[in-house]
Amino acid sequence: MTCAIFYASKSGYAKEVANKISFALDEIRVFDIGVTGSEYISDYKHIIFGIPTWDHGQMQKDWQKIWDDFKHIDFKGKTVAIFGLGDQKKYPDEFADAMRYVYDDLTKSGATIVGFTSTQGYQFNQSKAVVDDKFVGLVIDEQNQPELTNIRIKNWTDEIKADILHATS
Ligand SMILES: Cc1cc2nc3c(=O)[nH]c(=O)nc-3n(C[C@H](O)[C@H](O)[C@H](O)COP(=O)(O)O)c2cc1C
Repeated sequence: MTCAIFYASKSGYAKEVANKISFALDEIRVFDIGVTGSEYISDYKHIIFGIPTWDHGQMQKDWQKIWDDFKHIDFKGKTVAIFGLGDQKKYPDEFADAMRYVYDDLTKSGATIVGFTSTQGYQFNQSKAVVDDKFVGLVIDEQNQPELTNIRIKNWTDEIKADILHATS
């Protein structure tokens, strides 16, 4: 298998989303970077990163811990999709911001990013996760829209499947 999911999660929401995405993509491997750090990331060519936003627009702490190493990973030739978690009601000005830091770094490093999504159906003032009017990945809000999580995951995994799973190399 050339594809895997790497996520961090403080209270378990991103973990659950990662597992659901894995299930939807024929049970691809899932790594908690709080346990494995940045190890193994460069072994994979097709990668999904899970990034919850914490502390007013910051990456969750396990992401912060690997950040120096992460920045040195060469993503040229790799295909990457991103999912993020946030709370649009409590943090309408920093909604899912942390996805952007990872997105910017991946783009700089030459990754091909897939799985942008529409901002329709969310209510927030601003979000760094929006580039050219789209989220840079799948955004899940378990606090305010848990009933939409499964359908959002289904639509997104259907869309990225060809790039992440059925890629030939
Ligand atoms: C103290 C605290 C700070 C948070 N800060 C933000 C934030 O700045 N932006 C945002 O969109 N969500 C924020 N959230 C919401 C989390 O992203 C959300 O609860 C998410 O589901 C957490 O995922 P995890 O438990 O997998 O880490 C915050 C939540 C808490 C409890």
